[in-house]
Amino acid sequence: MAMAARPDPEGCREQDLGLFEIIQRDGLARIGRFHTNHGVITTPMLLPVINPNLRTIEPREMWESYGVDALITNSYVIWKHDELRSEALSKGIHSLLDFPGAIVTDSGTFQSYVYGDVEVSPEEIVSFQRDMGVDLGTMLDVFGRPDMTRDELEGAVTETANRSVPSLSVAGPDLLLNGPIQGGTHSDLRVQSSLLMGSSESNGRGFAVHPIGGIVPLMEQQRYKELFEILLSSKSSLPPERPVHFFGCGHPLLFPMAIALGVDLFDSAAYAIFARDDRILTPDGTLKLDDLKEWPFQSSALFGTTPQMIKDLDAEDRSRVLARHNLEVTQSELARCREAIRNGTIWQLAEHRSHASPHLREAFVWLQEQLDEPDDGPVGESVLSMIASSNPLREGGESLGEEIEYRPHILHIQALLAMRWRVPGSWWDSSTDPPDGVLLIEGAPPPWRNSALASVVMHLIENPRTVVMIATPIGILPFSLEDLSPWCHLIGPDGIWDPVLDDQEVTELLEEFGLADLPVTRLVPRDGTETYPENGRDVRGWLDRCSVVDKLSILCSIHPLDACKLTDEMTSRRSRTDRVINVSSQGEHILSPRLTDGGISLTIQGANAANEMHNSKPPEFGTGEGDSEFPGLPRVCIIDDAVPFVGKGRNVMHGYISGADSHLIPGQPCIVVDSKGDLVAHGTPITTHLEMAHMRKGVAVKVRAGAMKPDE
Ligand code: GUN
Repeated sequence: MAMAARPDPEGCREQDLGLFEIIQRDGLARIGRFHTNHGVITTPMLLPVINPNLRTIEPREMWESYGVDALITNSYVIWKHDELRSEALSKGIHSLLDFPGAIVTDSGTFQSYVYGDVEVSPEEIVSFQRDMGVDLGTMLDVFGRPDMTRDELEGAVTETANRSVPSLSVAGPDLLLNGPIQGGTHSDLRVQSSLLMGSSESNGRGFAVHPIGGIVPLMEQQRYKELFEILLSSKSSLPPERPVHFFGCGHPLLFPMAIALGVDLFDSAAYAIFARDDRILTPDGTLKLDDLKEWPFQSSALFGTTPQMIKDLDAEDRSRVLARHNLEVTQSELARCREAIRNGTIWQLAEHRSHASPHLREAFVWLQEQLDEPDDGPVGESVLSMIASSNPLREGGESLGEEIEYRPHILHIQALLAMRWRVPGSWWDSSTDPPDGVLLIEGAPPPWRNSALASVVMHLIENPRTVVMIATPIGILPFSLEDLSPWCHLIGPDGIWDPVLDDQEVTELLEEFGLADLPVTRLVPRDGTETYPENGRDVRGWLDRCSVVDKLSILCSIHPLDACKLTDEMTSRRSRTDRVINVSSQGEHILSPRLTDGGISLTIQGANAANEMHNSKPPEFGTGEGDSEFPGLPRVCIIDDAVPFVGKGRNVMHGYISGADSHLIPGQPCIVVDSKGDLVAHGTPITTHLEMAHMRKGVAVKVRAGAMKPDE
């Protein structure tokens, strides 16, 4: 099949230059778009390093055949070389490299780390990058080596920050700049550096991207735990609207974990350097050509060859073939990571890759400890925001593994359940006394509505004040949430559902829900063919309502009493498989339970009713909020100019938002209100409240429906 040549990119709109938008997310990992004068770059991505003196793969070929949107080269190397320098200044960097996409340059800092001092001043190297027509340049930061004393590292942070305003000022309006973060392995210095660099401005412009600098020695020594500690410390204090670059990181092994923790850009010469050394990159390590009899993987660069054939090539040809293979592996691992973000499995990919190296494993286990018990410092802060920004519900299966309970989205749903689930306030027979027993379903796989419903109804007819719970391999779950992912979608062999709990374990699990003092009836459902008698209908209706009330409380932070009001005189329509698909209250369709993940989709009537339950003012950025466990359906308040558009169903865009509730969960329902608090629309947030406060580009809330009629 003949492929058309890849056309040159279109520059971004003038007002979008340097802006970053988030298209999709999975916790801290995001698919982003970074806007430059030479195209819009999709992240996470790797900037291949081009040595202008030694082009192992031609930049043009990278653009055309490898889908490379942007690359990085070193402005100091060009500056030092008379011919390159004069050509770069007269024809521009894009012509010098013959690359139509975005060009990023580094500044010589790394050379100062390797060779000692550089001969260029901070202002001179920035103006040189500007004059060559670079898209994203780098200021001359001071490399903070991990083996420096704390005083020296503090000096590197301060001196880098002192140079930032003059550098931004020289860069002017067209050259975007990287503002590197230094500080060695000291979390507090990384925070200090992030705050200083994040707030530096000249003529109203700050840095476009923040690379995490000084980490190459840590990667060389495989000190990955410290590497990720640095990343999380820096992330806690960086502007949320700017992409983060992991300076000098290009081994595919590190991509999934780094991306899961919020890295957007990588750069590396590894593909070429390793190739020159006859080393081959794979997603889980590096292999030596000399050790191979056969290829244990494939790539188009190696297709049709054997290791012996490559060994027989002369050094230059061999390194070209291996560099092509290495670049392919790098690109395909990044594509795999982006796909994992799209389908919500980036953490599982990081979990999987962590087994490829003991050093990476050490880092991953440390991360899990942090997830289990976040520390009080900046690392804990980032870990908590990772959990809070993970959509707790997912479609599709969740593979059961030993580490499942550390996955951020699982921790999130467990935390929401622990914080917001309450025993029913009233029972099917209208009594309102406290519960007098627990029915525990165990030893059966989902769907429990099929296997256990009749037994549950029969038990409730006899014992109306019973709390019904289900034992699963990842804890116990109220029966009202029996179709919620991940519990109902656990994938594993049948044995995972065998009853394994002893009385002590049952007591401990019930304790978490405050139910340990109640008598427990244990039920192992049989074949699910039992039926319940006619008088079970009321019980069934009550169970359906409990399910809706619990989901509104847990996923939408609506107080259970308000959720009861919302579902007053609730009626429902059922699917052919007997599942509730539409819920109406007082004659109005207010919501639909989703069959795919157990979540709920509101209607505009439901959103309106939930909004009327708020009695506080609409949220405003910069003002404090209470810390109620049920602060109501989260609100995003938009500015007046946007109301006519969003009211008719257009998405809420960043830049038009004046406030957002901090308990907003990306992926779960929210309402959009105007400055008076009146409903404008409802939808699904993509970004967090912090991102909404700072981002200026892209969709913040995907609107499901506007509150205005089309002709209003
Ligand atoms: N390349 C790798 N590490 C660094 C760093 O800390 N600063 C700069 N400017 N470039 C780098």
